[in-house]
Amino acid sequence: MARCFQGWVFLLAVLVLALSTPCSHAHLKHKKFKTKTGVYLSPKFVLEPGLSSSKYFYNVHFPKGHIALKNFNAEVIDEEGNSSPLHEVYVHHWIVERYYARKGYVEPEQQLPQQLSESDVIWLRNSGMCQNGALGQYFGLGSETRKTATDVPGHYGIEVGDGEGVPDGFEERWMLNVHAIDTRGVEYDLGCTECRCDMYNVSRDQSGQPLPAGYTGGLTCCPDGAKCRLKQGFDGEKKNHYLRYTVKWVDWSESVVPVKVYILDVTDRMNHSAPTGAKHNCLVEYDVEKSCNATNGCLDNKWAKITMPTGGHVIYGVAHLHRGGLGSTLHGEDGRVLCSSTPIYGKGKEAGNEAGYVVAMTTCYPWPGSVKIKDGETLTVVSNYESTQLHSGVMGLFYILVAETL
Ligand SMILES: *[C@@H]1O[C@H](CO)[C@@H](O)[C@H](O)[C@H]1NC(C)=O
Ligand SMILES: *[C@@H]1O[C@H](CO)[C@@H](O)[C@H](O)[C@H]1NC(C)=O
Ligand SMILES: *[C@@H]1O[C@H](CO)[C@@H](O)[C@H](O)[C@H]1NC(C)=O
Repeated sequence: MARCFQGWVFLLAVLVLALSTPCSHAHLKHKKFKTKTGVYLSPKFVLEPGLSSSKYFYNVHFPKGHIALKNFNAEVIDEEGNSSPLHEVYVHHWIVERYYARKGYVEPEQQLPQQLSESDVIWLRNSGMCQNGALGQYFGLGSETRKTATDVPGHYGIEVGDGEGVPDGFEERWMLNVHAIDTRGVEYDLGCTECRCDMYNVSRDQSGQPLPAGYTGGLTCCPDGAKCRLKQGFDGEKKNHYLRYTVKWVDWSESVVPVKVYILDVTDRMNHSAPTGAKHNCLVEYDVEKSCNATNGCLDNKWAKITMPTGGHVIYGVAHLHRGGLGSTLHGEDGRVLCSSTPIYGKGKEAGNEAGYVVAMTTCYPWPGSVKIKDGETLTVVSNYESTQLHSGVMGLFYILVAETL
Protein backbone atom coordinates (compact mmCIF):
# COMPACT_ATOMS: atom_id res chain seq x y z
CA MET A 1 0.00 0.00 0.00
CA ALA A 2 2.79 2.36 0.97
CA ARG A 3 4.45 1.57 -2.33
CA CYS A 4 1.28 2.27 -4.26
CA PHE A 5 0.99 5.60 -2.61
CA GLN A 6 4.58 6.48 -3.42
CA GLY A 7 3.86 5.70 -7.04
CA TRP A 8 0.91 8.01 -6.94
CA VAL A 9 3.01 10.74 -5.37
CA PHE A 10 5.61 10.32 -8.06
CA LEU A 11 2.97 10.63 -10.76
CA LEU A 12 1.68 13.80 -9.19
CA ALA A 13 5.19 15.10 -8.82
CA VAL A 14 5.96 14.80 -12.48
CA LEU A 15 2.61 16.10 -13.54
CA VAL A 16 3.40 19.32 -15.26
CA LEU A 17 0.57 21.36 -16.57
CA ALA A 18 1.51 23.54 -19.44
CA LEU A 19 -0.88 26.45 -19.34
CA SER A 20 -0.95 29.24 -21.77
CA THR A 21 -1.70 32.40 -19.86
CA PRO A 22 -1.40 35.60 -21.83
CA CYS A 23 0.22 38.20 -19.63
CA SER A 24 -2.03 41.07 -18.74
CA HIS A 25 0.48 43.65 -17.53
CA ALA A 26 0.02 46.85 -19.47
CA HIS A 27 3.71 47.69 -19.74
CA LEU A 28 4.27 44.47 -21.60
CA LYS A 29 4.01 45.98 -25.03
CA HIS A 30 3.82 43.28 -27.64
CA LYS A 31 5.40 39.97 -26.84
CA LYS A 32 3.13 37.44 -25.20
CA PHE A 33 4.95 35.05 -22.91
CA LYS A 34 3.82 31.49 -22.64
CA THR A 35 3.78 30.77 -18.92
CA LYS A 36 4.25 27.14 -17.90
CA THR A 37 3.16 25.76 -14.56
CA GLY A 38 4.50 22.75 -12.67
CA VAL A 39 2.92 21.33 -9.53
CA TYR A 40 5.24 19.10 -7.50
CA LEU A 41 5.28 17.29 -4.17
CA SER A 42 8.20 17.17 -1.76
CA PRO A 43 9.14 13.80 -0.31
CA LYS A 44 6.93 12.78 2.62
CA PHE A 45 7.51 13.94 6.19
CA VAL A 46 5.79 12.35 9.16
CA LEU A 47 4.37 14.41 12.00
CA GLU A 48 2.99 13.50 15.41
CA PRO A 49 1.60 15.74 18.16
CA GLY A 50 4.26 18.16 19.42
CA LEU A 51 6.90 17.15 16.87
CA SER A 52 9.12 19.72 15.18
CA SER A 53 10.20 18.48 11.76
CA SER A 54 12.90 20.27 9.77
CA LYS A 55 13.80 18.27 6.68
CA TYR A 56 16.32 19.00 3.94
CA PHE A 57 15.32 17.55 0.60
CA TYR A 58 18.00 17.66 -2.10
CA ASN A 59 17.74 17.45 -5.87
CA VAL A 60 13.98 18.05 -5.77
CA HIS A 61 11.74 18.22 -8.84
CA PHE A 62 12.19 21.52 -10.61
CA PRO A 63 11.70 22.78 -14.17
CA LYS A 64 14.74 22.22 -16.35
CA GLY A 65 16.50 24.32 -18.95
CA HIS A 66 17.31 27.98 -19.39
CA ILE A 67 14.22 29.65 -17.92
CA ALA A 68 12.93 32.73 -16.12
CA LEU A 69 11.04 31.95 -12.91
CA LYS A 70 7.77 33.86 -12.63
CA ASN A 71 6.36 32.46 -9.39
CA PHE A 72 7.09 29.97 -6.62
CA ASN A 73 4.62 29.20 -3.88
CA ALA A 74 3.86 26.23 -1.67
CA GLU A 75 1.67 24.79 1.06
CA VAL A 76 1.63 21.80 3.37
CA ILE A 77 -0.93 19.12 2.54
CA ASP A 78 -1.84 15.78 4.11
CA GLU A 79 -2.03 12.30 2.60
CA GLU A 80 -5.46 13.00 1.07
CA GLY A 81 -4.17 16.16 -0.59
CA ASN A 82 -6.07 18.47 1.78
CA SER A 83 -4.50 21.73 2.99
CA SER A 84 -3.27 21.34 6.57
CA PRO A 85 -4.41 24.27 8.75
CA LEU A 86 -1.76 26.18 10.73
CA HIS A 87 -3.36 25.31 14.08
CA GLU A 88 -2.49 21.68 13.34
CA VAL A 89 0.65 22.01 11.25
CA TYR A 90 2.42 25.29 11.84
CA VAL A 91 4.64 26.16 8.88
CA HIS A 92 7.66 27.74 10.50
CA HIS A 93 9.23 28.14 7.05
CA TRP A 94 10.06 26.52 3.79
CA ILE A 95 13.02 27.72 1.72
CA VAL A 96 14.34 26.89 -1.73
CA GLU A 97 18.07 26.99 -2.48
CA ARG A 98 19.96 26.58 -5.72
CA TYR A 99 23.26 24.74 -6.10
CA TYR A 100 25.58 22.91 -8.45
CA ALA A 101 26.25 19.26 -7.68
CA ARG A 102 28.75 16.86 -9.17
CA LYS A 103 26.88 14.75 -11.74
CA GLY A 104 25.98 11.37 -10.26
CA TYR A 105 26.45 12.62 -6.70
CA VAL A 106 23.69 11.45 -4.35
CA GLU A 107 23.18 13.76 -1.38
CA PRO A 108 23.05 11.81 1.88
CA GLU A 109 19.61 12.06 3.51
CA GLN A 110 19.07 14.48 6.36
CA GLN A 111 22.45 16.19 6.18
CA LEU A 112 22.50 19.92 6.69
CA PRO A 113 23.65 21.89 3.63
CA GLN A 114 26.88 22.92 5.37
CA GLN A 115 27.67 19.24 6.02
CA LEU A 116 27.79 18.36 2.30
CA SER A 117 31.31 18.15 0.95
CA GLU A 118 32.56 21.21 -0.88
CA SER A 119 34.04 19.04 -3.60
CA ASP A 120 30.55 17.74 -4.49
CA VAL A 121 28.32 20.76 -3.94
CA ILE A 122 28.65 24.47 -4.74
CA TRP A 123 25.94 26.70 -3.25
CA LEU A 124 24.58 29.53 -5.35
CA ARG A 125 23.21 32.22 -3.10
CA ASN A 126 20.93 35.12 -3.96
CA SER A 127 22.37 38.60 -4.53
CA GLY A 128 22.29 39.85 -1.02
CA MET A 129 23.70 40.28 1.32
CA CYS A 130 24.17 38.19 4.43
CA GLN A 131 27.46 36.48 5.22
CA ASN A 132 28.29 33.00 3.90
CA GLY A 133 25.20 30.82 3.44
CA ALA A 134 22.90 32.84 5.71
CA LEU A 135 19.56 33.67 4.03
CA GLY A 136 20.88 32.60 0.64
CA GLN A 137 17.56 31.22 -0.59
CA TYR A 138 15.87 32.17 -3.85
CA PHE A 139 12.40 31.73 -2.35
CA GLY A 140 11.04 31.21 1.14
CA LEU A 141 7.95 31.92 3.21
CA GLY A 142 6.33 30.82 6.46
CA SER A 143 2.77 30.70 7.73
CA GLU A 144 1.82 33.46 5.24
CA THR A 145 2.44 31.17 2.29
CA ARG A 146 -1.17 30.56 1.19
CA LYS A 147 -2.30 34.15 0.72
CA THR A 148 0.83 36.12 -0.16
CA ALA A 149 1.23 37.30 -3.76
CA THR A 150 4.48 35.95 -5.22
CA ASP A 151 4.21 36.69 -8.94
CA VAL A 152 7.18 38.26 -10.68
CA PRO A 153 5.30 40.78 -12.81
CA GLY A 154 5.43 41.80 -16.47
CA HIS A 155 8.44 40.89 -18.58
CA TYR A 156 10.66 40.38 -15.50
CA GLY A 157 11.95 37.00 -14.37
CA ILE A 158 14.55 35.28 -12.19
CA GLU A 159 17.02 33.73 -14.61
CA VAL A 160 18.19 30.18 -13.81
CA GLY A 161 19.49 27.17 -15.70
CA ASP A 162 21.60 29.37 -17.99
CA GLY A 163 24.49 26.92 -17.71
CA GLU A 164 27.00 29.74 -17.49
CA GLY A 165 29.61 29.19 -14.83
CA VAL A 166 28.68 25.56 -14.19
CA PRO A 167 31.99 23.78 -13.55
CA ASP A 168 32.80 20.78 -15.75
CA GLY A 169 31.04 17.65 -14.51
CA PHE A 170 28.51 19.58 -12.42
CA GLU A 171 24.80 20.28 -12.90
CA GLU A 172 22.26 22.67 -11.39
CA ARG A 173 19.97 21.33 -8.66
CA TRP A 174 17.52 22.66 -6.07
CA MET A 175 17.10 22.03 -2.35
CA LEU A 176 14.00 22.38 -0.23
CA ASN A 177 14.01 22.84 3.55
CA VAL A 178 10.60 22.40 5.18
CA HIS A 179 10.22 23.20 8.86
CA ALA A 180 6.80 22.29 10.26
CA ILE A 181 5.59 21.96 13.84
CA ASP A 182 2.67 19.69 14.75
CA THR A 183 0.78 21.61 17.44
CA ARG A 184 -2.09 19.16 17.99
CA GLY A 185 -2.61 18.81 21.74
CA VAL A 186 0.27 21.06 22.82
CA GLU A 187 0.17 22.83 26.16
CA TYR A 188 1.15 26.28 24.87
CA ASP A 189 0.68 26.86 21.16
CA LEU A 190 2.54 30.20 20.89
CA GLY A 191 5.43 28.74 22.91
CA CYS A 192 5.76 25.81 20.50
CA THR A 193 5.55 27.93 17.35
CA GLU A 194 8.10 30.41 18.78
CA CYS A 195 10.39 27.49 19.67
CA ARG A 196 10.64 28.29 23.39
CA CYS A 197 13.44 26.23 24.89
CA ASP A 198 11.45 25.41 28.05
CA MET A 199 8.54 24.06 25.98
CA TYR A 200 10.92 21.76 24.08
CA ASN A 201 12.95 20.98 27.21
CA VAL A 202 16.12 21.87 25.33
CA SER A 203 19.14 23.23 27.21
CA ARG A 204 21.94 22.38 24.79
CA ASP A 205 22.50 23.05 21.09
CA GLN A 206 22.94 20.32 18.45
CA SER A 207 26.66 20.07 19.15
CA GLY A 208 26.03 19.56 22.87
CA GLN A 209 27.10 23.04 23.99
CA PRO A 210 24.96 24.79 26.64
CA LEU A 211 22.69 27.48 25.19
CA PRO A 212 24.05 31.04 25.37
CA ALA A 213 22.90 32.96 28.47
CA GLY A 214 19.53 34.61 27.88
CA TYR A 215 18.63 32.40 24.90
CA THR A 216 14.94 31.65 25.52
CA GLY A 217 13.81 30.44 22.13
CA GLY A 218 14.52 30.12 18.43
CA LEU A 219 15.65 27.55 15.89
CA THR A 220 18.28 26.04 18.20
CA CYS A 221 15.47 24.83 20.49
CA CYS A 222 13.22 23.25 17.83
CA PRO A 223 15.60 21.27 15.60
CA ASP A 224 14.36 18.28 13.62
CA GLY A 225 12.97 15.70 16.03
CA ALA A 226 12.42 18.01 19.04
CA LYS A 227 9.10 17.54 20.87
CA CYS A 228 7.01 20.35 22.31
CA ARG A 229 5.23 19.69 25.60
CA LEU A 230 1.75 18.18 25.23
CA LYS A 231 -1.31 18.51 27.45
CA GLN A 232 -1.31 15.67 29.90
CA GLY A 233 -2.82 12.51 28.47
CA PHE A 234 -3.10 13.83 24.91
CA ASP A 235 -2.71 11.17 22.30
CA GLY A 236 -2.80 11.65 18.55
CA GLU A 237 -1.86 9.57 15.53
CA LYS A 238 1.11 10.04 13.24
CA LYS A 239 0.26 11.73 9.95
CA ASN A 240 2.02 11.96 6.61
CA HIS A 241 2.52 15.36 5.04
CA TYR A 242 4.04 16.87 1.90
CA LEU A 243 4.97 20.31 0.69
CA ARG A 244 3.03 20.87 -2.52
CA TYR A 245 4.83 23.55 -4.50
CA THR A 246 3.83 25.34 -7.66
CA VAL A 247 6.42 26.82 -9.98
CA LYS A 248 5.63 29.11 -12.91
CA TRP A 249 8.17 30.00 -15.56
CA VAL A 250 8.74 31.11 -19.12
CA ASP A 251 11.48 29.97 -21.46
CA TRP A 252 14.38 32.37 -21.46
CA SER A 253 14.42 34.90 -24.30
CA GLU A 254 15.86 38.29 -25.08
CA SER A 255 12.57 39.92 -24.11
CA VAL A 256 12.80 38.78 -20.48
CA VAL A 257 14.47 41.29 -18.16
CA PRO A 258 16.36 39.57 -15.30
CA VAL A 259 15.77 40.57 -11.68
CA LYS A 260 18.08 39.99 -8.73
CA VAL A 261 16.84 38.57 -5.42
CA TYR A 262 17.89 40.44 -2.26
CA ILE A 263 17.01 39.49 1.31
CA LEU A 264 17.66 42.22 3.88
CA ASP A 265 17.72 41.24 7.56
CA VAL A 266 16.81 43.66 10.36
CA THR A 267 19.38 41.97 12.63
CA ASP A 268 22.24 42.69 10.20
CA ARG A 269 24.89 44.96 11.66
CA MET A 270 27.11 46.02 8.78
CA ASN A 271 30.81 46.50 9.45
CA HIS A 272 31.98 48.79 6.66
CA SER A 273 35.68 48.31 7.47
CA ALA A 274 35.56 44.51 7.22
CA PRO A 275 36.78 42.86 3.99
CA THR A 276 34.23 41.90 1.30
CA GLY A 277 32.28 38.82 2.28
CA ALA A 278 32.64 39.50 6.01
CA LYS A 279 30.84 42.83 6.17
CA HIS A 280 27.51 41.37 7.27
CA ASN A 281 26.37 39.70 10.44
CA CYS A 282 22.80 38.53 9.86
CA LEU A 283 21.49 36.72 12.92
CA VAL A 284 18.20 35.80 11.16
CA GLU A 285 16.28 35.64 14.46
CA TYR A 286 15.83 38.00 17.40
CA ASP A 287 13.72 38.32 20.54
CA VAL A 288 11.06 40.89 21.27
CA GLU A 289 11.11 41.59 25.01
CA LYS A 290 7.93 42.38 26.86
CA SER A 291 7.93 46.18 27.18
CA CYS A 292 5.29 48.87 27.38
CA ASN A 293 5.45 52.58 28.18
CA ALA A 294 3.24 55.61 28.06
CA THR A 295 4.69 57.18 24.92
CA ASN A 296 4.92 54.17 22.62
CA GLY A 297 2.50 51.71 24.14
CA CYS A 298 3.64 48.13 23.64
CA LEU A 299 5.69 48.46 20.48
CA ASP A 300 9.05 46.96 19.63
CA ASN A 301 10.81 48.82 16.87
CA LYS A 302 13.97 47.42 15.31
CA TRP A 303 15.95 48.72 12.38
CA ALA A 304 19.13 48.15 10.39
CA LYS A 305 21.05 50.15 7.81
CA ILE A 306 22.29 48.12 4.87
CA THR A 307 24.25 49.39 1.87
CA MET A 308 23.35 48.05 -1.58
CA PRO A 309 26.53 47.60 -3.68
CA THR A 310 24.50 48.08 -6.85
CA GLY A 311 21.06 49.56 -7.23
CA GLY A 312 18.24 49.24 -9.72
CA HIS A 313 14.48 49.37 -9.91
CA VAL A 314 12.37 47.67 -7.26
CA ILE A 315 9.90 45.40 -9.07
CA TYR A 316 8.49 43.51 -6.07
CA GLY A 317 8.83 43.68 -2.29
CA VAL A 318 7.50 41.72 0.69
CA ALA A 319 8.46 41.39 4.35
CA HIS A 320 8.53 38.23 6.45
CA LEU A 321 7.34 38.59 10.04
CA HIS A 322 6.19 36.11 12.68
CA ARG A 323 3.17 36.21 14.99
CA GLY A 324 3.05 39.52 16.83
CA GLY A 325 4.40 41.36 13.78
CA LEU A 326 2.75 44.70 13.01
CA GLY A 327 4.55 45.73 9.85
CA SER A 328 7.84 46.37 8.14
CA THR A 329 9.07 49.22 5.96
CA LEU A 330 12.06 49.65 3.68
CA HIS A 331 13.38 53.22 3.32
CA GLY A 332 15.86 54.81 0.96
CA GLU A 333 18.78 56.92 2.20
CA ASP A 334 16.67 60.11 2.06
CA GLY A 335 13.89 58.47 4.07
CA ARG A 336 11.52 57.82 1.15
CA VAL A 337 9.47 54.64 1.46
CA LEU A 338 10.52 51.96 -1.03
CA CYS A 339 8.00 49.40 0.22
CA SER A 340 5.79 48.83 3.22
CA SER A 341 4.51 45.33 3.99
CA THR A 342 2.07 44.38 6.73
CA PRO A 343 0.83 41.05 8.06
CA ILE A 344 -2.79 39.94 7.74
CA TYR A 345 -4.07 37.76 10.57
CA GLY A 346 -6.64 35.05 10.03
CA LYS A 347 -10.10 35.17 11.55
CA GLY A 348 -11.50 31.66 11.19
CA LYS A 349 -10.61 27.98 11.34
CA GLU A 350 -10.06 26.94 7.74
CA ALA A 351 -6.65 26.66 6.06
CA GLY A 352 -5.61 30.09 4.79
CA ASN A 353 -7.65 31.97 7.42
CA GLU A 354 -6.52 30.55 10.78
CA ALA A 355 -7.32 32.91 13.66
CA GLY A 356 -4.26 34.33 15.42
CA TYR A 357 -1.78 33.38 12.69
CA VAL A 358 -0.12 35.50 10.03
CA VAL A 359 -1.90 34.17 6.94
CA ALA A 360 -0.63 36.73 4.41
CA MET A 361 1.77 39.62 3.97
CA THR A 362 0.83 42.59 1.83
CA THR A 363 3.24 43.12 -1.06
CA CYS A 364 4.54 45.99 -3.22
CA TYR A 365 4.39 46.03 -7.01
CA PRO A 366 5.69 49.51 -7.80
CA TRP A 367 5.18 50.70 -11.35
CA PRO A 368 8.53 49.74 -12.96
CA GLY A 369 10.80 52.77 -12.91
CA SER A 370 8.99 54.54 -10.09
CA VAL A 371 11.09 53.14 -7.20
CA LYS A 372 14.82 53.33 -7.84
CA ILE A 373 17.77 52.43 -5.61
CA LYS A 374 21.07 54.15 -6.42
CA ASP A 375 24.37 52.26 -6.60
CA GLY A 376 25.87 52.30 -3.12
CA GLU A 377 22.69 53.60 -1.48
CA THR A 378 22.21 52.80 2.19
CA LEU A 379 18.73 51.45 2.91
CA THR A 380 16.98 51.21 6.28
CA VAL A 381 14.85 48.18 7.14
CA VAL A 382 12.37 48.72 9.97
CA SER A 383 10.39 45.95 11.70
CA ASN A 384 7.64 46.49 14.26
CA TYR A 385 6.26 43.91 16.68
CA GLU A 386 3.73 44.24 19.47
CA SER A 387 5.45 43.76 22.84
CA THR A 388 2.66 43.05 25.32
CA GLN A 389 4.46 39.71 25.80
CA LEU A 390 7.78 38.08 24.97
CA HIS A 391 8.18 36.83 21.39
CA SER A 392 11.23 34.61 20.93
CA GLY A 393 12.97 33.78 17.66
CA VAL A 394 11.07 36.26 15.49
CA MET A 395 12.30 37.46 12.10
CA GLY A 396 12.35 40.76 10.28
CA LEU A 397 13.28 40.12 6.66
CA PHE A 398 12.66 42.17 3.56
CA TYR A 399 12.70 40.33 0.23
CA ILE A 400 13.00 42.50 -2.87
CA LEU A 401 13.40 41.88 -6.60
CA VAL A 402 15.57 44.46 -8.33
CA ALA A 403 15.92 45.00 -12.09
CA GLU A 404 19.03 46.78 -13.30
CA THR A 405 17.30 47.80 -16.52
CA LEU A 406 13.62 48.45 -17.15
C1 LIG B 1 14.05 17.33 30.24
O1 LIG B 1 15.39 17.02 29.90
C2 LIG B 1 16.15 16.46 30.95
C3 LIG B 1 17.57 16.23 30.45
O2 LIG B 1 18.02 17.27 29.68
C4 LIG B 1 15.50 15.17 31.43
O3 LIG B 1 16.22 14.67 32.55
C5 LIG B 1 14.05 15.40 31.81
O4 LIG B 1 13.42 14.18 32.12
C6 LIG B 1 13.30 16.08 30.67
N1 LIG B 1 11.95 16.41 31.08
C7 LIG B 1 10.88 16.08 30.37
C8 LIG B 1 9.57 16.51 30.93
O5 LIG B 1 10.95 15.44 29.34
C1 LIG C 1 35.04 45.39 11.60
O1 LIG C 1 35.98 44.73 10.78
C2 LIG C 1 37.32 45.03 11.08
C3 LIG C 1 38.21 44.39 9.99
O2 LIG C 1 37.92 43.02 9.84
C4 LIG C 1 37.65 44.53 12.49
O3 LIG C 1 38.99 44.83 12.81
C5 LIG C 1 36.70 45.20 13.48
O4 LIG C 1 36.91 44.67 14.77
C6 LIG C 1 35.25 44.99 13.07
N1 LIG C 1 34.38 45.78 13.93
C7 LIG C 1 33.37 45.25 14.61
C8 LIG C 1 32.56 46.20 15.41
O5 LIG C 1 33.11 44.07 14.57
C1 LIG D 1 9.33 53.72 25.21
O1 LIG D 1 9.65 52.51 24.52
C2 LIG D 1 10.34 52.71 23.31
C3 LIG D 1 10.45 51.37 22.59
O2 LIG D 1 10.63 50.31 23.45
C4 LIG D 1 11.70 53.34 23.63
O3 LIG D 1 12.41 53.55 22.43
C5 LIG D 1 11.46 54.66 24.33
O4 LIG D 1 12.70 55.22 24.72
C6 LIG D 1 10.61 54.47 25.57
N1 LIG D 1 10.25 55.79 26.11
C7 LIG D 1 10.33 56.09 27.40
C8 LIG D 1 9.89 57.44 27.79
O5 LIG D 1 10.75 55.26 28.23
